[in-house]
Amino acid sequence: MEVIILNNSVEVGETAASLIASTIHRNPRAVLGLATGSSPSETYLALARMVEAGTLNLSKVAGFALDEYVGIPADHPASYAAVIQQEVVIPLGMTASQVQVPNGRAQNLAKAAAEYERQIVAAGGVDVQILGIGRNGHIGFNEPTSSFASRTRVKTLSEETRRDNARFFDRPDDVPMHCLTQGLGTILDAGRLILVATGASKAAATAAAVEGAVSSFVPASALQLHAHATVIVDEAAASLLALSDYYRYTYANKPS
Ligand code: GLP
Repeated sequence: MEVIILNNSVEVGETAASLIASTIHRNPRAVLGLATGSSPSETYLALARMVEAGTLNLSKVAGFALDEYVGIPADHPASYAAVIQQEVVIPLGMTASQVQVPNGRAQNLAKAAAEYERQIVAAGGVDVQILGIGRNGHIGFNEPTSSFASRTRVKTLSEETRRDNARFFDRPDDVPMHCLTQGLGTILDAGRLILVATGASKAAATAAAVEGAVSSFVPASALQLHAHATVIVDEAAASLLALSDYYRYTYANKPS
């Protein structure tokens, strides 16, 4: 896994965005895997600056969100359908039909999950997947002990994750108990993984994912099994990495 340590969250976003942009420049029909939460916000802002400057065009790109809450309306401001619309579709000059989000309002959630997997395959698979990381090491909504072979399915959110996400809702009890999330197996099928993490609250999870044992107890450690995974962090999120000097050295001396 490649680890890139940068000074702050703006640099993290700009570096992640330039990797994504180079994928799109190579293939204007690239398929992007989209994360929500605060971690990728700077990445989306940096991509939006490129779109505004006319150096990037996402009009032919397809996008698939990682996850969605179960049981809240699509127009609820905390629904990932709404967040993707506000943070990705509109600022990146895309149309809503270019981006899919799992249907957490479906009567039959298992069927909606299977259909989502089919849609990803029909689009040719995800070329580059953007990921954040939860404090307990989750990616998407794959909570600890999620199978590395898992596909899109219903999951129960941990109390810690519900507490962490309460800031997006009026009351803590409003945070849904369940979600639909791409599985770790779905995520590992992407051509490239880019995980962004910033702030001291992500330091322990980042170190466990990058340098700890590969374990379903730390879902993000699944990235160690991927041939093309890049972790981009700021100094605070990197603070518990044992090999931080080595990562800085290899990034500074990367073959061109
Ligand atoms: C959320 C999302 C994840 C996200 C993670 C971290 O619950 N489902 O996709 O990466 O938790 O969130 P944040 O970036 O806001 O810290």
